[in-house]
Amino acid sequence: MADLPPELIEALRDARRVVALTGSGISAESGVPTFRDAQTGLWANYDPQELATPEAFARDPELVRQWYAWRRELVERARPNAGHAALAELERSVPEFSLVTQNVDGLHQQAGSADVVELHGNILRSRCPVENVTVEPGEAEDLPPLCPNCGSPLRPDVVWFGEALPAAGLEAASGAARSCDLFLSVGTSGLVYPAASLPYEALENGAIVAEVNPERTPLSPSARFSLRGRAGEVLPRLVSAAFG
Ligand code: OAD
Repeated sequence: MADLPPELIEALRDARRVVALTGSGISAESGVPTFRDAQTGLWANYDPQELATPEAFARDPELVRQWYAWRRELVERARPNAGHAALAELERSVPEFSLVTQNVDGLHQQAGSADVVELHGNILRSRCPVENVTVEPGEAEDLPPLCPNCGSPLRPDVVWFGEALPAAGLEAASGAARSCDLFLSVGTSGLVYPAASLPYEALENGAIVAEVNPERTPLSPSARFSLRGRAGEVLPRLVSAAFG
């Protein structure tokens, strides 16, 4: 990739409040498939957008369960990459840092990020749709997994299309976006709202917005800096240029 803009390195070094919003692209280098890139193998003919819905679960719970079991297996095998590690280091380097992720894979926490807002839930946890309580991995061994309290079939503890995001997480993310000096959008297509509105909230409040993505996105024309490259390559260079 091209050289890093010196103005961005300086802005990062001077920033007091930094927010990073991540999407599935940051985990691509860990082997977790993104949502909108072509799928491979068994699931090549399924559209994630048609499986990640309450309607799909109501129509064919077993299909949805199997698709999530496959994704969960990939996540369990995945390890954080250099991009996750760089964001964990950034958290330790700036006075205030908020990491907001749309990812459900827990890789930021594994990489050592202490404070992560999970906007779309976590795939390793399950939830009872009747009692709305979360069930940690290993607590329900049945197949299909059943709620240990009431016996209802469990669903993954993720946000599906058409469902509301956790209010507290969204409020924290929005507050952080509105008060930061520098906003990094990493590995997200920026197509799914309300997460996609966060960089615009930052822009409206005068923050510098930088994007890290090998492809152009709808945010690109508004971002002050568009770093075209992979998160696992660009982020470590950026963090070490600013703080190394
Ligand atoms: P997408 O699949 O929509 O977008 C992935 C983005 O990552 C694309 O813009 C790719 O160009 C980029 N990308 C690929 N490899 C990369 C790399 N190595 N480094 C940096 N970027 C890379 O995934 P999301 O934006 O995460 O929501 O999708 C947002 C939401 O839509 C997901 O959280 C999920 C999905 O439906 C729910 O399930 C509610």
